Amino acid sequence: MYKTISSDKTKMVEEILSTGLQKAAPGDVVMACSFSVEDLVIIDLLQELAPQVSIFAIDTGRLHEETYEVAEALLQKYQLQINWHLPQTETLQELEREKGLFSFRENLDNRHECCHIRKVEPLNRALAGKAGWITGQRRSQSATRTTLADIETDRAHGDIVKINPLVDWSDEQVWDYATARRLPVNRLHSQGYPSIGCAPCTRAIKPGEDVRAGRWWWENPEHKECGLHRP
Ligand code: ADX
Ligand code: SF4
Repeated sequence: MYKTISSDKTKMVEEILSTGLQKAAPGDVVMACSFSVEDLVIIDLLQELAPQVSIFAIDTGRLHEETYEVAEALLQKYQLQINWHLPQTETLQELEREKGLFSFRENLDNRHECCHIRKVEPLNRALAGKAGWITGQRRSQSATRTTLADIETDRAHGDIVKINPLVDWSDEQVWDYATARRLPVNRLHSQGYPSIGCAPCTRAIKPGEDVRAGRWWWENPEHKECGLHRP
């Protein structure tokens, strides 16, 4: 199903992917790509380990220009296809007409509403009929991810398999891999953005701040999830 590669850390990824893919077999497993450095590492490894896994991305309509540039660079590098999923036009039109373009700043309910329309609903469509999905989540990314497992049952999406191959990688390990493999990382990372989501909900962090401090920076740390990843 996949070829073997060396090094302890990539060996672990191979084992996690192997177990996860077997759990999902014979169904289809897809990779969720936000064009983060973690996702680039996984996509690079997938070329060797499991090239049959297709890649999807959710275009919320509010991503940074720099993120679209990474998407384009990936296409050039691997000649792969990205299956884009966009929010539903009617629902988005209604949201923008009724509440304007920055309703998510007003309160948590509005923020969740926007994330639901722009991310969660498109994700549901991306995962419909799939047996599993792969994400770039890591435990050290966030207060909400400290107990993350390498392979989970995703109850929110019909008990499909959810695979987090880099679950225990450190920042340094991710960056060492990305640098060694010359991956086309987002330019924003070197401008103080360790974690990148939608443009209006992401800012650069200051030295010493938590890696997700720049995501929904006006909210408490325990709220810094958009609903893509639910227990
Ligand atoms: S989020 O929930 O806070 O937005 P985060 O940015 O940490 O998530 O990304 C974690 C993982 O979720 C990514 O590695 C990727 O697998 C998936 N993901 C996040 N945003 C997207 C997106 N726009 N399209 C596809 N997958 C995404
Ligand atoms: Fe909307 Fe911000 Fe959520 Fe993006 S991150 S979907 S702009 S609330």
